[in-house]
Order: sequence, then C-alpha cells, then structure tokens
Amino acid sequence: MAARWAPVVGLLLLLRLPPMASASSMVFKLDGNVYPDRHFYVTFNIGEPAKPYFLDVTTGSNLTWLECDVCGDSCKIRNKLSQGPHPLYRPTNENKFVPCAHSLCDALHQDLGEHKDCLAPTQCNYEIKYLDGASFLGVLVIDNLSFPTEKFPKTHPVIAFGCGYNQGRNSGNKASVVDGVLGLGRALRIKPNDYSLGRETLHLDTKQIGANPMELVLDSGSPYTYLPDSVHVQLVSSLKASLSKSLKEVPDPELTLCWKGPRPFRSVDDLKKEFKPLVSLKLEHGVTMMIPPKNYLIITESGNACLGTRGIRNLYMYLIGGISLQDQLVIYDNEKEHIGWMR
Ligand SMILES: *[C@@H]1O[C@H](CO)[C@@H](O)[C@H](O)[C@H]1NC(C)=O
Ligand SMILES: *[C@@H]1O[C@H](CO)[C@@H](O)[C@H](O)[C@H]1NC(C)=O
Repeated sequence: MAARWAPVVGLLLLLRLPPMASASSMVFKLDGNVYPDRHFYVTFNIGEPAKPYFLDVTTGSNLTWLECDVCGDSCKIRNKLSQGPHPLYRPTNENKFVPCAHSLCDALHQDLGEHKDCLAPTQCNYEIKYLDGASFLGVLVIDNLSFPTEKFPKTHPVIAFGCGYNQGRNSGNKASVVDGVLGLGRALRIKPNDYSLGRETLHLDTKQIGANPMELVLDSGSPYTYLPDSVHVQLVSSLKASLSKSLKEVPDPELTLCWKGPRPFRSVDDLKKEFKPLVSLKLEHGVTMMIPPKNYLIITESGNACLGTRGIRNLYMYLIGGISLQDQLVIYDNEKEHIGWMR
C-alpha cells in the first residue's frame, strides 16, 4: 500500500479484543512480491458471513483498514477508492460502528497523534495523513474475524479496524492487488535509547554515505526503500561511480534509475554478475544489516535492473522497505520491543 501512497510513517494499531488469549500464535500464508505486485499480503476472512480480503502486511502502519463501502447506494458522495480484488467490505448494521466515546476510539486517535472530535457521536472518524500529503478518511468498525485454518474452529475473535471510505487523491481508479492493510506497526521503530539496536549509518562498500546516523524504520508495506533525498543523491553517485562499464543507463517506466546489461537480466544470479556494490546499515552497538544488490534492485519486464531505493525530501530516517527485507527472516517482538533478522 505504502508504495502508491508513499512512505507512511507509522500509523499502526491492530486492535485485538478478547477472546484471543488462548490462540497465542498463528501462521499465515504470505502472497505477493515487490515487483510487479508491490505488495505482500495475507488473507483475512471478515464479517458475518465471512468474506475474504487481501491485506497488505505492513509494519509501517498503525492501523488495520479495509477499503469500505460505508454508505452504500444511497450515498451521494461517491467513494474515492481504488479497485481491490474483492467486493468492498460493507458494515452490515449500525452495531459495527465504534461510538466516538469508546476507549478504542481514544486508542486510535492516540496512535494517530490526533485529537478526536465527537461531532458525530455514533461513529469514530479518523484521518490518516501520509508524508506525500495524501489523507485517508474512515470510521472505526468492529467485526468478526474468522481464520482460514481448522486449527482454531472455536475462536471467534472480534477485530477493530478502519473502514476507509475516502482513500485520498493517490488512489484514483488504479486497480490494486490488495483490499486493505494489516497494520503491524506498533512499537516497531528503533529509536536511540529505547531499544538496544540504536541508530544507524549507511555504507556503500567501505564508504560511509551521509554524515549523521539516523533512525531506522522497517516498513514491510513499502515495496521500496526510502532515504532522505540528500543521502540518496550521494548513494546514487557513489553507486554509479563503482558500476561496471558494461551497464548502460536507460529509461524505464518502472523506476527513475535503470540499467541495461550486456543481455537482459532475468534472475538474481544475472544481477550478481554485473552489480557488485554492497550496501550496509551499521547500527550503533555493532549490528549490521547487509543489503546486497538483489535487495536494492528489481528486474523489470523488459529485463532492465532498476534501483529500488528512492530519495524523499523532508524525510529524516531510513525507511527500509520490502525489497531490502526479501529473503530475511524478520522477527518483530512487540511485547519485548525487539527486532531481529537473519538471512
Ligand atoms: C503508533 O502507535 C504507537 C503505540 O501507540 C505509538 O507510540 C506511535 O507513536 C504510533 N505511531 C504514529 C506515527 O502514529
Ligand atoms: C459476530 O458473529 C456473531 C454470530 O453470528 C454475532 O452475533 C455478533 O454480533 C458478531 N459480532 C460483531 C461485532 O459483528
């Protein structure tokens, strides 16, 4: 999701209501890819009767939400939505709406860092603002969640989530491979002092890029990796200087910086032959995250290799997206506030 709607800086809240305690873990099948789908997603069955929805698994979002048909056919204002793969979720009755006075509504607004106004007391309105200026409007609803597994047949948890009815100017009429977002972002920021990992510096091979250490944010919902503009400019020029002469810069509709090799790239192994530079993120306290070429390049349909990192103005952190986390086993321990990864 974050791709189309650009880097989301933390909007998360997966509100789980009881009774969930007995089911302590669950495994979901993950579908999708960085390119061309730009989403990794799981299937959640929501509602009564349950219907399937594809949710982008994103640690960069504080809120779980579905694109939603709140007002049905009677609605004068057309929902501004992109087209997901399934029919829009629609709350079946008034009881699904979380009232404004409810503590869940307080929690939502606290996580979003905004004040709630209860002008409409029967519903919990929210607005999510994204870095690129887009804003999403929605109301908080609760509904039944059923799991696509036989393992928990008696478990009927209720989930609170955003029912998004105006997904901002970026959604347009573009078809999307997902219906919404599974917001797993709570407490996933690595901040100095808060957690043992600390801030990090960016390196291309042995050269440090950008002078100051910055906060590291893992955002599985961003297909690409985002850096502050000035750092990105430096990264690109150092990278270009170190590339073999057999690579030719070419325009490609997918991303801004693409190269054509001696022959079209088809696989990660082809990339290895032409791209050598290793990007690394060195955390204070000595932990290093390695980003080899296959974790910063994508191969397009036309067989070009494109840089899967982007520079963003007014960004003061390194936002590590799905491309750089591929083939990594990442553990997000929200209770202990620890993150771990392993290739
Ligand atoms: C996400 O939620 C956590 C937990 O409430 C909060 O600390 C954090 O500030 C939220 N992030 C944003 C950007 O809203
Ligand atoms: C969940 O499903 C049960 C059984 O169909 C129903 O009685 C209940 O109202 C539903 N809960 C919500 C929040 O929709």
